[in-house]
Amino acid sequence: MSVPQHIAIIMDGNGRWAKKKGLPRNAGHTAGAKNVENICLAAKKLGVKYLTLYAFSTENWSRPDSEVKALMKLLSGYLDKCVQTAHENKMHIRVIGDISRLEPKFQQQIIEAERVSSVYEDLNLTIAINYGSRDEMLRAMRNVCTDVKTGTLQLEELTEAVFDSYLDTKELPDPDLLIRTSGEQRLSNYLLWQLAYSEFYFTNVPWPEFDEQELKKAIDAYENRDRRYGGIKEE
Ligand code: IPE
Ligand code: IPE
Ligand code: MG
Repeated sequence: MSVPQHIAIIMDGNGRWAKKKGLPRNAGHTAGAKNVENICLAAKKLGVKYLTLYAFSTENWSRPDSEVKALMKLLSGYLDKCVQTAHENKMHIRVIGDISRLEPKFQQQIIEAERVSSVYEDLNLTIAINYGSRDEMLRAMRNVCTDVKTGTLQLEELTEAVFDSYLDTKELPDPDLLIRTSGEQRLSNYLLWQLAYSEFYFTNVPWPEFDEQELKKAIDAYENRDRRYGGIKEE
């Protein structure tokens, strides 16, 4: 099988990585944010077209205030840097999730990053911020209902493809491969609809240590999978 066109990653384990080194959790997040750029470059080099990263979930608001603040600051700083490298690396940046709960300045920054990078297509980098799959589907359903009520959409026209077009990920193909770092084997409310037929890869390596070599291992594992989509194996 060829290189996955779209890889989604649950970047987990920053806190445990830091704890093991005797550092505060936020030091783990700083190291994790630094690693994002390396993985973007590695993914592009390996021929991946879409990379979708889980940065902050709808559930992560339940973390201590100081950690939430630090994460938001890191994300905003990262986005700034990302815009610079977007030009160099021809990277189209998108953000999925409900950004209306973020600071207005941060929301503006996101809109601007998406706008200036929209001309590029070498790598499509999507960052999930205040993202939760159930929240995304509920928001989509509300918009579907509104459109049915106003007559913009007929109920009979609501197919999987049409529902797809109401999701935050409407411009992206479904992920071929999902990677979760740091040992946990769960989805934590990530892309539940979009991952219906994706291959899963779990590794014990914590996110700050997940490098090009590790990405290559995940892709190698993917290439040895046998994807059937409900059919039978072709000999
Ligand atoms: C992932 O690392 C980063 C975010 C969820 C924002 P964690 O902070 O979840 O790290 P662990 O799981 O506690 O080690
Ligand atoms: C999922 O990781 C969210 C992100 C990576 C942003 P968590 O570490 O928050 O997930 P749980 O709480 O362990 O399931
Ligand atoms: Mg975690």
